[in-house]
Formats: sequence, structure tokens, C-alpha cells
Amino acid sequence: MADMEGMSEAKRYHLDVPAQNWSYALKGCNSLDWGMKNRLANIFNPVSGKTVMLAVDHGYFMGPTTGLERMDVTIVPLLPYADTLMCTRGILRSTIPAEFNRGVVLRASGGPSILKELSDEEIAVDMEDALRLNASAVAVQVFIGGPFETRSVHNMTRLVDKGLRYGMPVLGVTAVGKELTRDAQYLRLATRICAELGAAYVKTYYCAEGFESVTASCPVPIVIAGGKKLPELEALQMAERAIQEGAAGVDMGRNIFQSEAPAAMIQAVRKVVHEGWSAAHAFQFFEEERQKA
Ligand code: R5P
Repeated sequence: MADMEGMSEAKRYHLDVPAQNWSYALKGCNSLDWGMKNRLANIFNPVSGKTVMLAVDHGYFMGPTTGLERMDVTIVPLLPYADTLMCTRGILRSTIPAEFNRGVVLRASGGPSILKELSDEEIAVDMEDALRLNASAVAVQVFIGGPFETRSVHNMTRLVDKGLRYGMPVLGVTAVGKELTRDAQYLRLATRICAELGAAYVKTYYCAEGFESVTASCPVPIVIAGGKKLPELEALQMAERAIQEGAAGVDMGRNIFQSEAPAAMIQAVRKVVHEGWSAAHAFQFFEEERQKA
């Protein structure tokens, strides 16, 4: 142990180096507990601060949606390109290989099918099961302005209380009924309510006018849903604008898994979200990858 003996106390204890205080860069999340931040770091890439969530939870109210009929065939091959998978516990247990070691955001509300009033949801997952599944967050639909507004907000706040107890972030998903307009005024209201009541981050829709005011007035990160299938270039343009206007990523489903070339599309989306590529550049990449496939 001659080398140890020779080492001075000052060297061993790094007396000249002040102790590090790490701050967690994700918007509005620095005061969360360590476990919560650690889970969020499975969702938001610590280098870019952004996320590409692959949303495949549609079956919880739509059944076998186009592109999700055989998720073992269509979705599992996309997993290497997703920062996070948003899915139900049924699909997670039945279909997703346990070797998938990135974030899982578990759909935690549900009840009615597309045949009924969609906003009539309840909590559909116990926090203990979310922990058992090693989820990185739970997601709950919040229907601001809908007929069951209070209940859906209460679903979220109950999950937030449980989540704070166990270190599980809650993703508040602002759902829009047919009768509500997805304009900036509505989205500011819905996203701010989710954040004020404890959502660690919020998923909402992109709007062409004033989206910057939606991200600016929400104190936690916002990710955008993709919505109905668009031509690939348009979906990439929407992602590009959302990122430029303050979104922390996308939670995209149909625009990826209903694409003619889903693997090429999710990789193109990654270029926009993580590397700041323009939509035009990413679309060119998409075309090249599509032709190779
Ligand atoms: C819908 O309610 C689901 O929660 C989806 O996760 C969400 O709408 C995102 O998927 P898409 O990009 O297909 O809209």
C-alpha cells in the first residue's frame, strides 16, 4: 500500500474541489425528487433535452387500429428508434420484449370505447402495478371543457398524489372533444391546468397560430401528439415547428405506424427532434431510407 501511504489527505479527499450540486435541466422539474427525475431521464434524452415518444396506446379505446393489429410485427421493430414507448399494460405484458430498456409511459386512464362518450374515463391502473412494470411515467387523459371535466381532472390529481408518494411522474394528456377548438387559447388553458395541478409534463396538440404562447405559459415540458395521419412531409413540418416553438418533443403514433415506411419515418422524426434538422432535410432522409427498405 505504498502508493496509498504516499497520497496526501488533500489529494484523497479532493479538498480543493468544491462539492458538485447537479441541477436537473428539464423545464420546471428541478425540484422533483431524485427518483422522479431519474424516471424523466428515461424519457427525455439528457443531451438534447427532448424526446421521441412512440404512442401505441390507441387500442385502449379504439381496439385494433390500423397499423396496430399485430403489434409484435409492426411495433416491436420500431423500438430501437423510440426514446419512450407509450402503451397500455396489456400490450406491455403480452407483446413488448422485457429487454426494451428505455422509458415506458403507461396509459393509466380508460373506460369508454369509441362507441361511447370518450371523456367518461376513470383511473385504469394502480400505481403499484405501474411500479411493478418499471414504468417511467403514467399518462392520464384530461378533458378540459368536456362533460366529465372535473372527474378527469380528479383522475389526474389522484395519480399525481400517488406518483409523488412513489416517485412516478404523471403525463397530463389534454384531450379535445369534437366540440372543442384546438386553438392557442384553449390549449393554454388546458395545458396550464394540468401543470398547475401537478403533471410533470403535458401532452397536447400543435396549433398553427400562437403555439409559442402555449409552451411559454406552461411551466413544465410540453410534447405534441401527432394526430391523424398526414403526408410525411407535413407531419415532419409540424414536428419542426413545434420544436422551434418550444415543444420538448413529440408523442407520435399514427403518423409513424401508419406511414408507408414506419422505421424510416420514426428515424426522420428523430432527426428533427434531437438534431434540429429541417423538415425538408428529414423528408429527404425519409425518402432515402424508404427506398432502401
Ligand atoms: C390517444 O388518445 C392516444 O393517447 C395517443 O397516444 C395520442 O393521441 C397520440 O397518438 P397520435 O399521434 O396517433 O395522435
